[in-house]
Amino acid sequence: MQVEQNISLRQFNSFGIDVTARRFAAFQTEAELQELLHASAQDQRLVLGGGSNILFTKDVDGWILKNEIKGIELIKEDDAFVYVRAGAGVNWHAFVLYCIERNWAGVENLSLIPGNVGASPMQNIGAYGVEIKEVMEELEAYHMHDEAKIIFSNKDCAFGYRESVFKRTYRNQFVILNVTYKLRKQPVFNISYGAIREELEAMGIKELSIKAVSNAVIKIRSSKLPDPKFIGNAGSFFKNPTVSKQRYDALKAQYPLLVGYANTDGTVKLAAGWLIEQCGWKGYRKGDAGCHAKQALVLVNYGTAKGIDVLELSEAIVKSVEEKFGVELEREVNLY
Ligand code: EPU
Repeated sequence: MQVEQNISLRQFNSFGIDVTARRFAAFQTEAELQELLHASAQDQRLVLGGGSNILFTKDVDGWILKNEIKGIELIKEDDAFVYVRAGAGVNWHAFVLYCIERNWAGVENLSLIPGNVGASPMQNIGAYGVEIKEVMEELEAYHMHDEAKIIFSNKDCAFGYRESVFKRTYRNQFVILNVTYKLRKQPVFNISYGAIREELEAMGIKELSIKAVSNAVIKIRSSKLPDPKFIGNAGSFFKNPTVSKQRYDALKAQYPLLVGYANTDGTVKLAAGWLIEQCGWKGYRKGDAGCHAKQALVLVNYGTAKGIDVLELSEAIVKSVEEKFGVELEREVNLY
């Protein structure tokens, strides 16, 4: 294992923010992780996966430990399901494609989400009507301080909308080592999301398959979301805010085009992208920080923006949405 000093993190975060880490090392096994945890015991440390959900606003005066635990393994199967374990450092989309090739269903709606397997339970990734909590069986995580390996069941993760126990109660305490998914041998398609149905139709698909659903999702994402290889971003910068039905009705009366989706508990999730667009931010750019022209929920770095530039822009957006609609936006992206 090589420990590097004072290196730029630009290529290690999808926002492409150019900050420096005092120490940087990658681990591929649990043993290597243990070794690094000992070496860095006196310092501040941050475990990084694909770096696709973080905004760096300052240099890291400590260690970046990059999770590169690889490997995909079929560990068990029965008539209906396969149980597949993937290392936290496996690229998420590569994992999705691996499953599709073998006809294992359940993650096709989550195609092309940037980042690695380890982040999937961390923030309960979701898109087009599916969330990881629907397919995650269990995971193994390593407690950095107690030096113990713990198994978390699906229930233990306390999943919520872009939430898990690892984002709150256990923030910065565990390193996710691997994740086991329970996938179906016979697909149960979820094409409830209008855009998927429309795309499948436009593609002329007569017979549904998980490959076709994946291709439709890839098309939709590519048309709306900027590719971090070319324009720095971390997907949705904010969560879609939840309001009471009463509040929704009042807003809808005032803004008939307001977009909202009913939650099962009677509350309503508002489309933050719509709220932000209505405040005039879509396509806005100041220096190299901007609000994406095709999806206002995505903030972007056109090249040399600093984390603080993006953060300031996000704060101005929160303020204007609050002023216009009385709705508070919450960040989805982690801040460092
Ligand atoms: N909308 C606008 N203007 C915009 C953006 C969106 O009016 O600039 C409207 C759209 O017309 C649509 C509604 O808002 O009626 C929802 O838009 P979209 O389908 O693009 O989804 P989203 O709610 O903005 C969420 C997730 C995405 C996920 C998509 C698809 C969150 C925070 N974001 O976005 O996840 O891909 O749904 O399921 O829940 C991510 O988490 O990083 C992410 C990209």
